[in-house]
Amino acid sequence: MDSSDTYWNDRALLEWQVELGATDAILDAPVDRYALEVAQPAPKAAVPEKPVTAAPMPPKKVEVDAVGLAHTAAQTASDLDALSAAMQAFEHCELKKGARSFVFCDGNPAARVMIIGEAPGREEDRAGRPFVGRAGQLLDRMLEAIQMGRAADDAARSVYITNVLPWRPPSNRTPDKDEIAMMLPFLERHVALVNPEIIVLMGNTPCQALLGRTGITRMRGSWTEVLGKPCLPMFHPAYLLRNPIAKREAWADLLALNARLRG
Ligand code: URA
Repeated sequence: MDSSDTYWNDRALLEWQVELGATDAILDAPVDRYALEVAQPAPKAAVPEKPVTAAPMPPKKVEVDAVGLAHTAAQTASDLDALSAAMQAFEHCELKKGARSFVFCDGNPAARVMIIGEAPGREEDRAGRPFVGRAGQLLDRMLEAIQMGRAADDAARSVYITNVLPWRPPSNRTPDKDEIAMMLPFLERHVALVNPEIIVLMGNTPCQALLGRTGITRMRGSWTEVLGKPCLPMFHPAYLLRNPIAKREAWADLLALNARLRG
């Protein structure tokens, strides 16, 4: 066997071992593979810790002192036009969003009597004037009965009419205490600017606003004082439409008002 035969024999043997799965060449000395250190993966580079950030909070609701803002706005109004403008610019009463009109007043600002109702109803919201619906028409007839009216030029015979709220509550519901409190500074300023001799409160809502109590059935017909002026609580004309029997008491109250004016 020459040297080239040996080469080809060795090569064939090696290929046969590789085919059987051998991966390492046979060394001169055996290798103790248990003693070999298992290569550890290189430690990961330390990742800098993320700064702890607080979970995002929902935006904080800013509490608005609507009564305080109303007070400031009302006090800066030096006449009725300015008061009307300040009220129309007041954005904190939700009723404004649902109302068609801003209803401020009717009648003669020089009148001796200021009548204060509750809030505009559907007809008033349409017309932009207080007391123009059925209740308002009854009010006009009641005033006529004592020779008074909103259209009279003569201050002695005329009345000035407004409401606690200038915007119609949805479905004519009764105004709630927060709405009344929010608009009260404007009403107080309204009274101060008109400066009537006598105030008539029509129904429970103006009694709640200006006297701090309700119970019109007990309160009606009893003179009291509000904002330094004589004041007469009366049944609301809408109540009289529903309860015609109560017109007797309303008539007595009208006579008492007339007597005070002419006395
Ligand atoms: N009722 C009120 O109290 N005011 C109005 O203007 C109309 C109805």
